[in-house]
Amino acid sequence: MQLLGKREPEIYGKLTLDELHSNLMEVAIALNVDLVCYQSNHEGNIVDRIGNAAQDGIDAIIINPAAYTHTSIAIHDALKAVALPAVEVHISNVGTREEFRQESLTAPACIAMIAGLGVDGYEWALRSLVKLNKK
Ligand code: DQA
Repeated sequence: MQLLGKREPEIYGKLTLDELHSNLMEVAIALNVDLVCYQSNHEGNIVDRIGNAAQDGIDAIIINPAAYTHTSIAIHDALKAVALPAVEVHISNVGTREEFRQESLTAPACIAMIAGLGVDGYEWALRSLVKLNKK
């Protein structure tokens, strides 16, 4: 995700991660919620971030575990352990791609998964979680 905007733009688009974060931040401001963006290439750092989320005052998680989606029991367990509502987002439609992308080990620890809507998926995830938290 670090190379978003440069990596396979025909699949993941041309928006950089910084641009995505600032676009999402604008949506968060309009919705009157605080948003913290985090990216790491390291599975353990992601597990740490999720594990600390509740004590950091986080109410909900939007996560694109990228390739860890298909391999990481650790991220699945961290999401289960922290027990915050989480939505998994994939920019591409993983269900129509290579077979190894068709299983998500992390989605069962989330309330929903959005895939194939490009970077807009993050905005829908944010709007859904804000709506859910207001119920
Ligand atoms: C991805 C899909 C994953 O299979 C892939 O490893 C990624 C990006 C997506 O957003 O479409 O890095 O999570």
